[in-house]
Amino acid sequence: MKADPATEAGLLKPENIESSLQENRTFPPPAQFSGHARIQSMEEYETLCHEAEQDYEGFWARRARSEIEWRQPFSRTLNSEHAPQYSWFEDGTLNVSVNCLDRHLATRGNRVAILFEGEQGDVRQLTYCELHAEVSRFGNALKALGVCSGDRVVIYMPMVPEAVIAMQACARIGAIHSVVFGGFSVESLKDRIEDAGAKIVITADGGHRGGKIIPLKATCDEALAHSCPTIEHVIVLKRAGNKITMAPWRDVWWHETIASQSPECAPEWISSEHPLFLLYTSGSTGKPKGIQHASAGYLLGTILTMKWVFDIRADDVFWCTADVGWVTGHSYVAYGPLACGVTLVMYEGAPSVPDYGRFWAVCERHKVSVFYTAPTAIRALIKHGEALPKRYDLSSLRLLGTVGEPINPEAWMWYHRVIGQGRCPIVDTWWQTETGVHMIAPLPGATPLKPGSCTKPLPGIAADVVDEHGVSITQPDQGGYLVIKKPWPSMLRTIWGDATRYRDTYFPKFGGRYYLSGDGARRDADGYFWIMGRVDDVLKVSGHRLGTMEIESALVAHQKVAEAAVVGRPDEVRGECVVAFVVVRGARPTGTDAQELTHELKEWVSHQIGPIARPEEIRYGDNLPKTRSGKIMRRLLRAIARGQTIEEDVSTLENPEIVRQLAEPR
Ligand code: WTA
Repeated sequence: MKADPATEAGLLKPENIESSLQENRTFPPPAQFSGHARIQSMEEYETLCHEAEQDYEGFWARRARSEIEWRQPFSRTLNSEHAPQYSWFEDGTLNVSVNCLDRHLATRGNRVAILFEGEQGDVRQLTYCELHAEVSRFGNALKALGVCSGDRVVIYMPMVPEAVIAMQACARIGAIHSVVFGGFSVESLKDRIEDAGAKIVITADGGHRGGKIIPLKATCDEALAHSCPTIEHVIVLKRAGNKITMAPWRDVWWHETIASQSPECAPEWISSEHPLFLLYTSGSTGKPKGIQHASAGYLLGTILTMKWVFDIRADDVFWCTADVGWVTGHSYVAYGPLACGVTLVMYEGAPSVPDYGRFWAVCERHKVSVFYTAPTAIRALIKHGEALPKRYDLSSLRLLGTVGEPINPEAWMWYHRVIGQGRCPIVDTWWQTETGVHMIAPLPGATPLKPGSCTKPLPGIAADVVDEHGVSITQPDQGGYLVIKKPWPSMLRTIWGDATRYRDTYFPKFGGRYYLSGDGARRDADGYFWIMGRVDDVLKVSGHRLGTMEIESALVAHQKVAEAAVVGRPDEVRGECVVAFVVVRGARPTGTDAQELTHELKEWVSHQIGPIARPEEIRYGDNLPKTRSGKIMRRLLRAIARGQTIEEDVSTLENPEIVRQLAEPR
C-alpha cells in the first residue's frame, strides 16, 4: 500500500502493528456462556456464516420476519438496482417505536425501561408503560406544533430520559431526528440545523456535567440568532434550573407542551426505508456529513447485535455509557435495549463526579449486568488505580464491552481482571456511525478472545481486508483496507442531500462494489481482525470522531489566522489529541504573544466546534511544509507533533527550512 495516499495519511502505523503482533494471549468463553449463550460454539457461528453465504437474502429475510413486528410484511428483501443506494425490505411497513415499546406492554409493561441517575445523584425510573405514555404525549405535542412525517427535528439535550423520549416520539410520528451531541457548540449546532433544514429544536435549559451546568439553551439561542430560518419552535426541557431567556414567539416549555396531551398516540406506519434519523459525523472535508439511516434494517441490526454480541437476557440491566449524541447512544441506548425489552441505565454526568469511582458506584447501585464503554474511559480509570473499583460490589456484572477505538491489550487485561474479575467476557466491537451496528465482534459463548482484537465478522457481514486493487489479502498480518463486500440491512442509506458525496466517500474504489470503511486492518493467522486506525484525516479523540479539516476551518475562521493544519498525536488516555500548526497574518508570534494567541485560539475552537476539538498544542510557523505542488506534508507535521526527528530528505520541499522552525523546542 506504499504508494497510496492513505499510507501518506499515516494509516498503517508501524507502532500499532508491532505491539499487537506480539499479543498471543487467548481467553476461551467462560463456562456460564459456553453452551448457554444464544450462539454457543464456533461450529454454530460457522453454520450461520455458511447459511448467509449460501442464501444471503434468505438469511436476512428470515431474521427480519422473526425479530420485527411488521404492520405489513415485506415481500422483497434486497433491492440493488440503484446500487450503491440499496433498499432492504422495502415493501414492508412498521413503526420503530411500536417495536421498542408497545410490543412489551402486555408481557412486561411494569418492568423498568429506563433507570436514570443524574450527576447530582437524583434517580428516576420509568417502566415500559410509563415510557410508552411519555413518548405518546410528546409525540402528540410535536404533532400539535406542526411536525409531520418526514420533517427533521434536532435534539440537543443532556443525557436525561427525555432525550430518549424525544427520539422515540419522532420515530412514533415518522419525523426524522438529528441528535447533536450536547458537547458541541454554536457553529456545529448551527451547521447541523441548517443542513437538515430542521423545523424544531428540542433542548434543555442546561445539563449537569463535570460539576458544571452546560448552558444548552444559551448555545442554542446563539446558533439560531440571524440564521436557521427553517426553525419554527424550540422546545425547552427544564432540567438544571439555570436562568435562560425564552423567545415568546418561538420557545415553548416541554412540560407545557405535553400538559394537555393524551398518553395515546397512534403510530405512523412508515415504509421500511423511511429515514429514521440523521447523525452528523466527521469525514475528510470541513463539512460534517449527515449519515442517513433507514428504519427496518437499522432496527433489525440493533436487535440482532443485542442478542448475538451482548447475549442480552430478559432480566439484564444494560448500561452503555455513550451519550445519545453519538451513534453508540442511538443503537445501544435509544433503540436496541428497548427493542429487546430490557432495563437500560442512563447516567447524566461525567465519570469523575464526585470521584473516578462513579461508574462502579452506578453499577453496584443498579445491579448492572452488561456494561459497555469506550477504551478512553477505561484508560482514564486505570490511571486512578484499582483501589477505587475494589470499593464496590461488581458481582452483578456478567459481560463487558468496548467501542470507539482500538483497545490496547494492557487496558483490555485490566478491564478483564479488575472490573470483570476474570469472570466476564469482553466484547470489543468494531463498527461505525455508517454501519449502524456492530460489524466485527466476538460472540461471548463462542469466540475465544484475544486482547486488542475485535475478532471475527458477525454472521452475514462480508468484512474483508483488501489491497489497493480490491484483492483480498490472505497473508497473515499484512495490513490493508477494511471493506464490507456486500450491503447489509443496517448500513447507511446515503448522506443527507448529497448522494454524490455518499458514492464518492464510501464506494470510490474497486468499481463501486465494496463499502470502504476508512479504517486500515490486518488479519492474523487465525483470521482475527486487528484494527489499525483510520486511513483518512479523521481523528479519534477520547473516542469522539473529529475531522482535521473541521478544526482547520474553525482556526482559519479566526481573523488572526492565515493558514492552519491539524494532525493527531498519540495520547495515553485519550487515544489521540489535537495538534495545530498555524500561520498567522503578519509576523510569527513568539514568547508571551504566542502564549496569549494560543489561549485565544484554543478558546475559539472550543466555542466554534466544542471543547472536544480544543487543540492540545499550537505551533507557529512562517509557513507550512509544502511540496512544490503546494500540498501540505502532513506526514512531516505528524512527526513533528510526536517530537520525532525528521530523518528523511526534505530538500525537495518548497520550503525545507520551515520544518526546522516548526520543530523548534518550546
Ligand atoms: C473506530 C463508533 C478499533 C474506527 C461506533 C471506526 C474502532 C471509527 C472500534 C468509527 C474498535 C470503532 N476497535 N477501532 N472496536 N470501534 N472504532 O463513527 O476507526 O464514531 O472507523 O462510530 O471508530 O467511529 P464512529
